[in-house]
Amino acid sequence: MMGTTLLSFFTVLVSLSCLYSPTSSSSTDSFVFGGCTQQKYVPDSPYESNLNSLLTSLVNSATYSSYNNYTIMGSSPQDVIYGLYQCRGDLAMPDCATCVARAVSQVGHLCSYTSGGALQLEGCYIKYDNTSFLGVEDKTVVLKKCGPSIGYDADGMGRRDSVLAALVGSSGPYRVGGSGEVQGLAQCVGDLSLSECQDCVSEAIGRVKSECGGAVYGDMFLAKCYARYSTGGSNFYSKGHHDKSTNDSEKTFAVIIGLLAGVALLIVFLTFIRKVFGGNGK
Ligand SMILES: *[C@@H]1O[C@H](CO)[C@@H](O)[C@H](O)[C@H]1NC(C)=O
Ligand SMILES: *[C@@H]1O[C@H](CO)[C@@H](O)[C@H](O)[C@H]1NC(C)=O
Repeated sequence: MMGTTLLSFFTVLVSLSCLYSPTSSSSTDSFVFGGCTQQKYVPDSPYESNLNSLLTSLVNSATYSSYNNYTIMGSSPQDVIYGLYQCRGDLAMPDCATCVARAVSQVGHLCSYTSGGALQLEGCYIKYDNTSFLGVEDKTVVLKKCGPSIGYDADGMGRRDSVLAALVGSSGPYRVGGSGEVQGLAQCVGDLSLSECQDCVSEAIGRVKSECGGAVYGDMFLAKCYARYSTGGSNFYSKGHHDKSTNDSEKTFAVIIGLLAGVALLIVFLTFIRKVFGGNGK
């Protein structure tokens, strides 16, 4: 009887630790870039309530679709707001929704009271504005990031170039490829037609190739598409140091909660034992 009780005690302890272990935040939620318009809207205005319903629509839609666009009509023309989101093509629906929800909450902090805003996380992109940008191809460079140069390495650069060429040669809004340690990725926003996406991806890849010469990785984010590559040392799917330490502290937190729960249960258990034995003594 004693053995069974102890066994169930430890089972409870272990399952409590699992229960309190937060689901680890993956690299899809990492911040890439964000931007806001100069113009601000009036707080508590119809525009603000339209913006809130737009952002709610984006989050809801991301539970079942990896891309969507919305136009929220106001009672007057100046209250109209346009918005969209795009998840990276490999994200499953729950992850897409999580990512868009995080992007929406971050853009709220970054772009308080501005009429337009955009935010790119590793796994998803959101944008809204009071001028329509839906269905408009836009190849403006938003973010260019080149890793440290490894110097001239004909073999490595040859691999990179062939991975990038394969991305241009494939089709669709989401493209991945790899050769050895080299990985490539391209993604269009879903409002582009196939030919516009092709044009945008070609531009992004041409630029990342020429502007990130011998760099270990390159990121080229244009307004409606991006292209990225990584070689050996780093890649956009691996977790950065920051994510790792967050996970470690989350684990520590889970262990502490588990131990506290264990101590509480131990006290209850000992009280129970005392009652049983105290009762027998009488
Ligand atoms: C967008 O909002 C700003 C700030 O309220 C305003 O000045 C601008 O005219 C608006 N643009 C359109 C197209 O409504
Ligand atoms: C926006 O969404 C509507 C409805 O889902 C769709 O019919 C339309 O093609 C979309 N427009 C763009 C530019 O993606």
